Amino acid sequence: MTRPDTATLAVYPGSFDPIHLGHVDIIHRAAHIFPRVVVGILENASKDALFTPLERREMIRELFADEPQVEVRCFSGLLVNFLKELDATIIIRGMRAVSDFEYEFQMALMNRRLYPQAETVFLTPKEEYTYLSSRLVKEVVALGGDVTGLVPDAVRHHLEARYRKATHPPTR
Ligand code: PNS
Repeated sequence: MTRPDTATLAVYPGSFDPIHLGHVDIIHRAAHIFPRVVVGILENASKDALFTPLERREMIRELFADEPQVEVRCFSGLLVNFLKELDATIIIRGMRAVSDFEYEFQMALMNRRLYPQAETVFLTPKEEYTYLSSRLVKEVVALGGDVTGLVPDAVRHHLEARYRKATHPPTR
């Protein structure tokens, strides 16, 4: 099998709705291994999304503004097509616990089936982030809980503002 010499670039795809410190940790680990990391935000039409793909992109760009090796882009459709567009073959995924394994394994094999050059590299976050998920973070903030130390401060402010707006819609 011939492989393009593109291992200088790794793609970290996800929903990132919103990014949390487990994701940030994985991006730093990936940037330690690969000279260039592209964070790929899936632009799905999910009605459950709290932030638009562009809002998510801006939040992540701001977090990594001082780290030029980290780029943030949105993509739609198949991940493998996004990889091909970038001439990339490496997919980064975070593996938090055994419960992630089955879904991640299926995705890695499907992506390889669709694009044999694709190679998924699994990275594990710091233990303190292994229970973190965007879904839980949103639930905690929606119910008035504090997510300090679980998401970057700027993201926490966006979350709190979004839920404040939802609970207190502007009056005319
Ligand atoms: O953060 P998530 O929601 O676990 O990320 C999932 C993501 C975006 C990596 C996955 O849903 C994806 O790659 N979607 C793009 C569509 C696609 O390529 N599907 C087939 C891959 S198995």
